[in-house]
Amino acid sequence: MGSFNFLLLFVGVLCGGSYAQLTHNFYDQTCPSFPNIVRREVKRAIETNIRAGAKLIRFHFHDCFVQGCDGSVLLEDAPGIDSELNGLGNLGIQGLEIVDAIKAAVERECPGVVSCADILAQASKDSVDLQGGPSWRVLYGRRDSRTANKTGADELPSPFENLDQLKKKFEDVGLDTIDLVALSGAHTFGRSKCMFFSDRLSNFSGSGEPDPTLDPTYRQELERACTSPETRVNLDPTTPNTFDKNYFTNLQANRGLLHSDQILFATGEADTIAIVNNLGSREETFFRQFQLSMIKMGNIKPLTGTQGEIRRNCRRVNDLGDEAGHDVM
Ligand code: HEM
Ligand SMILES: *[C@@H]1O[C@H](CO)[C@@H](O)[C@H](O)[C@H]1NC(C)=O
Ligand SMILES: *[C@@H]1O[C@H](CO)[C@@H](O)[C@H](O)[C@H]1NC(C)=O
Repeated sequence: MGSFNFLLLFVGVLCGGSYAQLTHNFYDQTCPSFPNIVRREVKRAIETNIRAGAKLIRFHFHDCFVQGCDGSVLLEDAPGIDSELNGLGNLGIQGLEIVDAIKAAVERECPGVVSCADILAQASKDSVDLQGGPSWRVLYGRRDSRTANKTGADELPSPFENLDQLKKKFEDVGLDTIDLVALSGAHTFGRSKCMFFSDRLSNFSGSGEPDPTLDPTYRQELERACTSPETRVNLDPTTPNTFDKNYFTNLQANRGLLHSDQILFATGEADTIAIVNNLGSREETFFRQFQLSMIKMGNIKPLTGTQGEIRRNCRRVNDLGDEAGHDVM
């Protein structure tokens, strides 16, 4: 390494964000099989339930947006824990049992070593890559929180917010407009309950008319599909289980499912329109940006070093009392 690079590195370590401490080789000595175990378990989960990958990456997103990528989203109600799972933004979230299964497999091999926060980051990469999307090198070394923040979960980005509000919520965690658009591309797979978009189907914002930015044929399909607010429909009507760029080509055709999706393309003069067009033009372009934005999201305020703990059960903090126990599930 030249001395110039070395100086840059040194300055980077001194001034860099807290993510300077996450590394690719964090588990090389303590749990070298961790990536393989997670991949095997994610594969198994997707074979059982095609939505498993979508559920996992959504968990990672909701984890990172509330007090950083620290596994806080996974904690259930307990004395001193007001679970984020009951926050407004986590309405309808599913898949905790998939996280349990991955964690149990990792614990069998390397007990007490790998954090739940790192498992979510790794499982997200595998979920995307196993369903046709890009792969990337995940950074590790996050530790698990001993606290949750339900208020933070109430304030997660909502499908009913406008573009400025969404931009602001991403900016607040250090993500820019390109990250917002690229990461929204995760809506290329998975499902949404009808309650999150049914306001668009008729009398949108009290106008007496459907959302004008919703393709009329697609609207009819959705009306037929939505027999109840709890019904789930595909976020991507074209290739519902494949990770591809169709999320963006759907937006170009006024076939974004959520209002928060379509406004990326339908807000007059918005800078997001050019980004949608760019990411929708070539799969390579979307994939490259998605990797960068996922790494950036995974770097949001992790706990490192001696902060937090390595939870043995992702659903609860380790108590002093059961230190010797083997109580993972
Ligand atoms: C821009 C702000 C975002 C909003 C307002 C939003 C909103 C939503 C909503 C309302 C659902 C349906 C939930 C349900 O019915 O259970 C959903 C599902 C989903 N979201 Fe987002 N989301 C956003 C960003 C993201 C990001 C950044 C990711 C990941 C990188 C993501 C990944 C997913 C996935 C994969 C699903 C499907 C989950 C499943 O099938 O269970 N979303 N999102
Ligand atoms: C919880 O999150 C809210 C909203 O982001 C924030 O205002 C509050 O300070 C947080 N509480 C704690 C104890 O960190
Ligand atoms: C649409 O909503 C507005 C405001 O909520 C209401 O006043 C109006 O009666 C509704 N129109 C129809 C056709 O349902």
